[in-house]
Amino acid sequence: MTRADADSWDIATSVGATATMVAAARAIASRERDALIDDPFAEPLVRAVGLDFFTRLIDGEIEMSDDDGGAATWLITNVMAVRTRFFDDFFIAATGDGITQAVILASGLDARAYRLGWPAGTVVYEIDQPKVIEFKNATMASIGAEPTAQRRAVSIDLRDDWPAALRRNGFDDTKPTAWSAEGLLVYLPPEAQDRLFDDIAKLSAPGSRLATEYHPDAGASMGRRAEAFRQRWQKHGFDMNLADLFYPGERNPVVDYLSEHGWRVTARDRTEMFAEYGRHFPDSEELAPMRDSLAVTAIRQ
Ligand SMILES: C[S@@+](CC[C@H](N)C(=O)[O-])C[C@H]1O[C@@H](n2cnc3c(N)ncnc32)[C@H](O)[C@@H]1O
Repeated sequence: MTRADADSWDIATSVGATATMVAAARAIASRERDALIDDPFAEPLVRAVGLDFFTRLIDGEIEMSDDDGGAATWLITNVMAVRTRFFDDFFIAATGDGITQAVILASGLDARAYRLGWPAGTVVYEIDQPKVIEFKNATMASIGAEPTAQRRAVSIDLRDDWPAALRRNGFDDTKPTAWSAEGLLVYLPPEAQDRLFDDIAKLSAPGSRLATEYHPDAGASMGRRAEAFRQRWQKHGFDMNLADLFYPGERNPVVDYLSEHGWRVTARDRTEMFAEYGRHFPDSEELAPMRDSLAVTAIRQ
C-alpha cells in the first residue's frame, strides 16, 4: 500500500507503526551497558501497542535480521540511540539558554515531555495524528506517567493547517521556540516538507531553534534496504515495507532550504555524530548512504 493525500493511521498501522519501530529501538538502546539514552517509557509503550514482532524484538527473541549475527539490530539501535541523544541534547541546550516553548513535530511515542528535566514553566507541544496522540495519552495515563513540563498534545495531520491548531492550544509566536522534526520528513510529500519549514519560520521569533535530520539519499538505497527488511520481517509474521510509506520525488536539500530562508544552519554527518557520542559508524561501502545522513540544527536570524 502506498501513500495517499489524506491517509491516516493508528499507532500499529502504516506510518504509525514506524513510531512503534523507533520506540522499540529506544527500549533496546536504553538497556545497553554503555547506554547513551535512558527512555524508561519506550518499553511499556511498545508493549501496549501489542504488535507481536516488536514485543518479541524488545524481549530479545528475534533480531532485526536473521542472518548477520545481530549487526542490523546493533546498527539500528545505535543509530536510534545517537539520534535520540542528539535531539535530547538539542532541547536541553535550548531550554538551558532560556527558551521556554518547545514543539515536537510528529511526536509518535517520543516521551521527552515525560523524561527530560525541563526548566520550570516550559511548555512542550506535541503534534501527531489524532489516534497516535490518543494512544500515547491513554497509555501514559495508565502507567501513571507524569509530564515533566506543561505538555500540550495537538491532534492534527501535519499536511493540514497545524499552525492554527497549535495557536488554538496556546502557542505564542512572540517567544523563541525550540522545534524538532525527528523521523518525519520522508513521510511528507516534498512540497509539504517545504511548507512545513515555511510554517515553522513564520511561527519562529528570532532566536528560535530547529533540529531535524536530512537523508540526501532517501531514494533508491533506502528503498533497497527497506525491501530487505521487509523480506526478513515477513518471516516473523510482520508485513511492513518502509519504502511504501516514504513519499517519493526530489526534495529540496534541507540545509540549503533553511539557509536560504533565514536560518543559520549547522550540519554534521553520521560519522561525526557517532564519534561525538563515542561510537564508531561502520566503514562498509554498503552503508555509505546512511553515513551521509545529516543531523541539522538551525537558529532563526
Ligand atoms: C518514525 S515515527 C517518529 C516518531 C518520533 N518523532 C520519534 O522519533 O520517536 C514517524 C511519526 O510521524 C508521524 N507523522 C508522519 N506524517 C505525519 C503527518 N502527516 N501528520 C502527523 N503526523 C505524522 C507519525 O504518526 C509517526 O508518529
